[in-house]
Amino acid sequence: MSRHPDLRVPDLAALHARRSEKWAGHDPDVLVSTIAEMDFPLAAPVKEALRAAIDRDDLGYAPEAIPGLAAAFAGFAQRRMGWRVDPEQVTLVPDVMAGLTGLGRILAGDAAAVAFASPAYPPFFGAPPRAGLHPRPVPLAPGGELDLDALRAELASGTRVLLLANPHNPTGRVLPRTELEAIAELCAEHDAWVLADEIHAPLVLTGASHVPWLEVSDAARERGVSLISASKAFNLAGLKAALLVTASDRARAAVARLPPLGDHAGLLGIVGAEAAFTDGDPWLDAVLAQLDANRSLLGERLAAELPEVAWSPPGGTYLAWLDCRALGLGDDPADAFLRRGRIALGQGPRYGAEGRGFVRVNFGTSPELVAEAVRRMAATV
Ligand SMILES: Cc1ncc(COP(=O)(O)O)c(C=O)c1O
Repeated sequence: MSRHPDLRVPDLAALHARRSEKWAGHDPDVLVSTIAEMDFPLAAPVKEALRAAIDRDDLGYAPEAIPGLAAAFAGFAQRRMGWRVDPEQVTLVPDVMAGLTGLGRILAGDAAAVAFASPAYPPFFGAPPRAGLHPRPVPLAPGGELDLDALRAELASGTRVLLLANPHNPTGRVLPRTELEAIAELCAEHDAWVLADEIHAPLVLTGASHVPWLEVSDAARERGVSLISASKAFNLAGLKAALLVTASDRARAAVARLPPLGDHAGLLGIVGAEAAFTDGDPWLDAVLAQLDANRSLLGERLAAELPEVAWSPPGGTYLAWLDCRALGLGDDPADAFLRRGRIALGQGPRYGAEGRGFVRVNFGTSPELVAEAVRRMAATV
């Protein structure tokens, strides 16, 4: 059987037949560019592994021990990111947010607060309060980097946990090593933990390279936990299996204090992730090449049809954060884009106060739909 990855995206009607959160709940004429799911067909080895599980009638509970998945991830991390992962220090959780909030509760201390760069993935604002934690957004500096003075002030006020999304969502920025080192040093000075959300790390595009948090420095390893999964890079978010990775005794002891979150992970998530991390490289390489081309196309189409929109092409992810303030569409331009242009985009204000006047577009789709997205946005104005 040919292993050449098939990335043909079906037409809009077929996409609307999907039942995932991205596609459910929108009128059939709407082009949906919201939730971080890609439109490509799944990787063939992942489909085969999932089909084989069904053919074995193997849909029971997830096992507690995951040696196969831990070893598969360690191999993937080494091959693709030069990251030496000890499979013994890999722990299963159902998803990254469960890991972030669970660890946040354990590590936040008296202040019960978690800091993060804003704009941010919207659940960074919504999930901490449900876990009894105060969300403490720290505005990004104008260049997109974390404002270290603002972070220093936040840590000085007693906050002991930083949620660090790298690559960042919604900007797609991949943090350079020097910046990561400075963050690690600052957090070490304040005895603060870094929960490194590296869910988008396998999706780094030409021109950028991802430095895994646990490869940054001894300080980063000492008080750091990486949270990662196959769900963004391989489009498996519905299957529920993510990983916590540590590289120090102290961090490992912190993870050991968690309740057994892995109980809520899905067996198919383990099966799918193991196949993805073991045999998914050719598919992922093809996806990265397509995303690279789509990123360029998005830039060309915006320059031609919506030159007033400002953006910094992302170094990673399939998300682009578009500054639409010059278009005069108000704080939430996604509203007009949906009503008049029939395109659903991420609504800037949901990503924090810094998101007013912005939208997030998802270019994890066909070039035709990337071009169509810009066409619909231009038609709105
Ligand atoms: C930065 C970031 N963290 C976490 C998540 C959610 O991950 P999970 O579904 O594993 O909780 C997403 C999803 O888009 C994300 O972009």
